[in-house]
Amino acid sequence: TRVAVIGGGQNCEHEVSLASAAAATAALDPARYQVVVLTIGADGGWRDEGDRPVGLAGAVETLQGCDVALPLLHGPRGEDGTVAALLDLAGVPYAGSGLSAGALAMDKWVTKLVAGAIGIATAPGVLLTAATAATYTWTHPVVVKPVAAGSSRGVARVDRPEQLAAAVGAALALDRRVLVEDVVEGREVDLAVLARPGGARIVAPALEIVVAGGVFDYATKYDGSAVFRVPAPLAEADRKALEHAALGMYDALGCSGVVRVDFFLTADGPVLNEVNTTPGFTGQSQVPRMFAAAGVPYPELLDILIQDVLA
Ligand code: DAL
Ligand code: MG
Repeated sequence: TRVAVIGGGQNCEHEVSLASAAAATAALDPARYQVVVLTIGADGGWRDEGDRPVGLAGAVETLQGCDVALPLLHGPRGEDGTVAALLDLAGVPYAGSGLSAGALAMDKWVTKLVAGAIGIATAPGVLLTAATAATYTWTHPVVVKPVAAGSSRGVARVDRPEQLAAAVGAALALDRRVLVEDVVEGREVDLAVLARPGGARIVAPALEIVVAGGVFDYATKYDGSAVFRVPAPLAEADRKALEHAALGMYDALGCSGVVRVDFFLTADGPVLNEVNTTPGFTGQSQVPRMFAAAGVPYPELLDILIQDVLA
């Protein structure tokens, strides 16, 4: 089976995506899979495994010569449905969510609206643009984030009013729209949902992120200092509420394959943070760790994702 592993991407999560793609490439059984690596450069150009520019037409031709694609692109112009659309138009089957789920989940404002519509709590928040930013008055601690980004890029907590302008400016550098949300106090708990052919859905054991300094930011996401507790110790009622919310978001957004749904578990129950249609996918990332805890090692998880597309 020829598998195109796509990594990189023209966004602030480029390196993270390269790590996910490299890990998957290394873990795919060479006896069963012939891996074709394609990388989207930070400049947006497509490159082959020898790092030679191939152009968009060359990339499409390569993809069309594969049986299945495994896009491991995080962030805008990759996870947001753009590459899913390209693969759809090129007629290449792929693992993971399609155009609309990718686009909806990449948009943290739309995700919030969808969650609200199906009764899942999110942090109260407002949407700002460059045109409206000056109308916002800071009254209490908030988190400022680009509507579409990932890995905490451009995200800042604002505890004092004089920090607001810089935080909004940094977020506006990554997106035209910025979300200003109330700070949610709670445990950080992630769930992974995997839909199988035929409709069965598997929810892996929940994972709790324990960060020494308290904030799971870009540095602690990738410097190894965060501790993952999996399975997360959870009261039965909390576990059920988290699973219900994770499945609800999976269905409402129309996801496919495996996604990671991130929550804050508060005294009042789960508060949705975000849905990742292409979650971090190194062997040490949350989703592979959650499935490993369920008895599905990383190479087998990759196998399931690929075989389900071909089924
Ligand atoms: N956006 C990063 C890759 C994650 O959600 O794991
Ligand atoms: Mg994310």
